[in-house]
Amino acid sequence: MCGIIGYTGEDQALPVLLKGLRALEYRGYDSAGIALCGGNGITTVKAKGRIDLLEEKLKISPPEPSFCGIGHTRWATHGAPSDLNAHPHSTENLSLVHNGIIENYAEVEAMLKGFGYTFVSETDTEAAAKLVDHFYKITCDPVKSVFSATGFLRGSFAFGVIFRDVPGKIYAVRRDSPLIVARCNHGSLIASDIPAILPYTKKYFRLPEDTVAVIDEKSTEFFGRDGKKLSLPEETVDWSVSEAQKSGYPHFMLKEICEEPEALRKTVGARLVDSLPDFKDIIDRIPERIHIVACGTAMHAGLIGKTLIEMFARVPTEVCIASEFRYRDPILHGNELVLLLSQSGETADTLAALRHAKAAGVPTLAIVNVIGSSVAREADRVLYTLAGPEIAVASTKAYSVQCACLALMAIDLALKNGRMTEKEARGLTETLLTSVPEAVGKVIGMSEKIKVLANEFTDTEHLFYIGRGIDCDLCAEGSLKLKEISYIHSEAYAAGELKHGTISLVTDRVPVVAVMTDRSLAGKTLSGVREVKSRGAHLLVLTTDGVKESLGAPIPCDKTITVPEIGCEDCPYLARLLTLFPAVTALQLFAYHAAADRGLDVDKPRNLAKSVTVE
Ligand code: G6P
Repeated sequence: MCGIIGYTGEDQALPVLLKGLRALEYRGYDSAGIALCGGNGITTVKAKGRIDLLEEKLKISPPEPSFCGIGHTRWATHGAPSDLNAHPHSTENLSLVHNGIIENYAEVEAMLKGFGYTFVSETDTEAAAKLVDHFYKITCDPVKSVFSATGFLRGSFAFGVIFRDVPGKIYAVRRDSPLIVARCNHGSLIASDIPAILPYTKKYFRLPEDTVAVIDEKSTEFFGRDGKKLSLPEETVDWSVSEAQKSGYPHFMLKEICEEPEALRKTVGARLVDSLPDFKDIIDRIPERIHIVACGTAMHAGLIGKTLIEMFARVPTEVCIASEFRYRDPILHGNELVLLLSQSGETADTLAALRHAKAAGVPTLAIVNVIGSSVAREADRVLYTLAGPEIAVASTKAYSVQCACLALMAIDLALKNGRMTEKEARGLTETLLTSVPEAVGKVIGMSEKIKVLANEFTDTEHLFYIGRGIDCDLCAEGSLKLKEISYIHSEAYAAGELKHGTISLVTDRVPVVAVMTDRSLAGKTLSGVREVKSRGAHLLVLTTDGVKESLGAPIPCDKTITVPEIGCEDCPYLARLLTLFPAVTALQLFAYHAAADRGLDVDKPRNLAKSVTVE
């Protein structure tokens, strides 16, 4: 979503701000702006659209040199993307950037109008900027004015503020929206996310809620609401600049797909003791029911989790979209478990669901990729996936490692409740650690072949994915991946359900991708395949040699992607379900190549954000 960067120090601020904004581009945005503090007061430049347009504007009328400034990428919530609605929002005294949503902005605006303020934008942020300005006029103290304003505001926010009268200092505060502060060789920084500070330092402070940070060329200071100085622990980023760069790949998405084998090995390896999953620190007893709650791709990993946990361990498992969870008055008991899945750990809906579960007294466990993120900190227990930074908006490697954690958990639960022997559990665990990453690597090696197939779909407008059982779960993710980045409308359907209505949409212009990796259900899916084929659909089948053999007759389709089938002598049937991993990689590559062939901005699809920090 929106991105914040602020720099004050010995160097010119503008290049640092622009570089920071570029590093935050992946979060998704539709306008950008900067404000610089200089001898003539504050200069603000904003532009609708990409950062290139902002840079063009800055080239046409360059601002005077400045060593202190703030920058922002905005993802529109209140008011359309426009120059006027873009941040920073300025008053005669200050300039402010904001991530999040001010819920009571209308009330604040009405109050400020009473004091003579006028409003020009459609944003909630303008109310926040003018509220700080109002208190600054009363107190003449930046820290006090920021605290007074935040005491009034409801909602989520991370603010960066510069004051005309205090050149060289940046003030920052946050509530329910992340913000970090860092020292580097030549100054200090604030940022909404780590990639923006990585070129300068790997050390940072995580700003606690309702704490004001004051940074200048030489220092970073933190103040509590009582005015007392706080000392915060400095944390160190555990990933490198190159991990946050494309390293020769045309897109982050392709790079991240190619990182899947390593991410799987690391994530699975980290959870093993004596070659078995070790969840001692996380699950003390078998929950009566598991509620998996998540958004987007993470929710789709939850679907896989449900299938695996129920198949392996027979523990009843529900999957709920996080934005729906708390509004459906879920029936929760203390002997159940609410399992939150989130790559970023900052998704507002997932965080709200977590808080709802905690308030209901249910134990919570988070599976999160970003260390120290809000979901990770607030859940009772946390299990980290080790995917490394994921930059592309479309999530790929994070999905695979979430599925791997859920598979490990399914094995652990099955072993605990006697549904699986230790030999079977060891066999499956070893398969996850070695055969699965190997098979995923083989699919990555098929990328060029998948590209040729995907390019046949460049002119497609609508498409269906069909499958049964775990293949149906994979279809949900394959379809989401395709539509979010290629803008080809697609729907995932249970293969047996298509005939109950939607098959009326299938024609020779509506291709179908059939996912058939589960031998036990492939024969059934075949009926669906025949039904769409006889309606003229161009048909691509994703399958395995094992499935083809088991069917005994050729699948009536136009094209095939054959992925390696996962096997394990000790537990052949359950191991075959793990074919989900190479299969999803093929679906991700298919979506990637379809979008790249359309010449689209694969890593930053329109209107989408990497981490959605508003409800
Ligand atoms: C956004 C992103 C998706 C992601 C979802 C959940 O919608 O565009 O790629 O799957 O948020 O994100 P999380 O960080 O909670 O996994």
